[in-house]
This record gives sequence, C-alpha cells and structure tokens, in this order.
Amino acid sequence: MTPIKPLIAGNWKMNGLGAALNEANAFCAGFDAVLAERVDAMICPPATLLSRVAELLENTPITCGGQDCHENDEGAFTGDLSAPMIKDAGASAVILGHSERRTLHGETDALVQKKVLAAQKAGLQAIICVGETFVERDSGKTLERITAQLEGSLPEGVNQQNTVIAYEPVWAIGTGKIPNPEDIVEVHTLMRTRLTDRFGAQAAHIRLLYGGSLKPSNAQEILALEHVNGGLVGGASLKADDFLSICKAA
Ligand code: PGA
Repeated sequence: MTPIKPLIAGNWKMNGLGAALNEANAFCAGFDAVLAERVDAMICPPATLLSRVAELLENTPITCGGQDCHENDEGAFTGDLSAPMIKDAGASAVILGHSERRTLHGETDALVQKKVLAAQKAGLQAIICVGETFVERDSGKTLERITAQLEGSLPEGVNQQNTVIAYEPVWAIGTGKIPNPEDIVEVHTLMRTRLTDRFGAQAAHIRLLYGGSLKPSNAQEILALEHVNGGLVGGASLKADDFLSICKAA
C-alpha cells in the first residue's frame, strides 16, 4: 500500500485576533518545499479570521479549515455558519464533532452525521473527531465508545478525499496528559478495522489523526505510531515555531 502522507491540522479554537495573522505568516515562511513534500499542513482559525487566513495561504501548499458548521445550508439560524459559507470563505475542510462541541453544545452523533453530510455536499473535507472521556477509559469502555461514535457520526459515502478521522481522548485535550503509545495504537487499529469493514478496502487510505496535548516534545513518538497519519493540534498550533516543529516531526 502506498504510504499515507501525514496531515498536521492546527485548531486555533476561540483564540486569535488580527495579530494572530503574524503567526500564520511566520508558519508559512517556515513551511518550505522540502517539508511540504513530506507533510500536509492546515490551519483552522476562528471564523472571524477564516477569509483572511485563506487569503494569506493562497499560493502556498497550506490549506485552511473551519471549526464547525451548521447542518443546513442557509436559513434563520442566528450566529451559525453553513458549510457553503465556510467553503466560500476559502476553506477546504471543516472540523466536526469536536469534544468541545459535543460536551459544551450537546452535539450528538446523529447531529454530527448531518453536519458531515452538509460538509460533503459543500465539497469540504470533514475532520470528524471521536474520543472517550476519562471515566469511559477508566471503566474499560474506550473501544466501545469509539465504535459507537464512528458508527453514529459517519454517513455513507465516506472516503479518503472527503473524510479525516481524529482520535482525541477528551481527557487528553488541553491537559498535558497523553495516552500510552499502546493505547493510541489500539484505538487507531480499531478505527482502521471499523472503517474498512464498513467502507471497504479504500478506507485503508483514510487519514487517522491523533489529537490531545500533541506538542513538539511528544510529536515524534506519537506520529510514528502505527495507523497514526498525522495530528490535530490545539494549543501548540498557536505558536508558529511549535506548530512547525510538530510538522517536522511528522
Ligand atoms: P490540545 O487540543 O492540543 O490543546 O490538547 C487538541 C484539540 O482539541 O484539537
């Protein structure tokens, strides 16, 4: 099988005013052709910066993505953004089902699935997040949870172009804690198996990212693990140097 080119995606979350464009610029300057040959990079800024970041990344190999979208294309949904709007702002992807959306906004697997369909229809790649809580891991329910989230959040028609899956243990996000390498491999192997069972042999090429306290000091070890095809980076994506180090580690 041809090796999967890793993707490192930076999720800025609700961080960044105009000055954050300087970090994006510095990242671009450091992301040279040699690096671009080996790894794909993406920046997912807050919606207020999306079109400016997209403009800045024009004519670079770096892409940009949104952090969420509504399941409808348009309508009376004050404060929401649709997939076509995110595409129109210059994004090629959108993060969906992040644990902060699932927890703080009550998003269910069924809703995430509708959003994924909306993203697919708009021509956006969906970066779908799954992950267990600490209680679920502690009680031996991790694999069951991941299986249920994959089953519930993924619609039909998933392939390597329109979908990326990010395994993000909820207890590892922003905490500095990371799972043991064996535990990451166990979940990623499970995801690969479930995906190929449901979507056939082509699903062997879908990128599986790890996310949760990924930083320069642990990136090399984690990104070298079996079935880990890149990372979804929160805090460490806000600093150009750290984000570049993680790209180099891939
Ligand atoms: P973190 O966040 O890298 O700050 O832990 C990752 C994420 O939520 O995507």
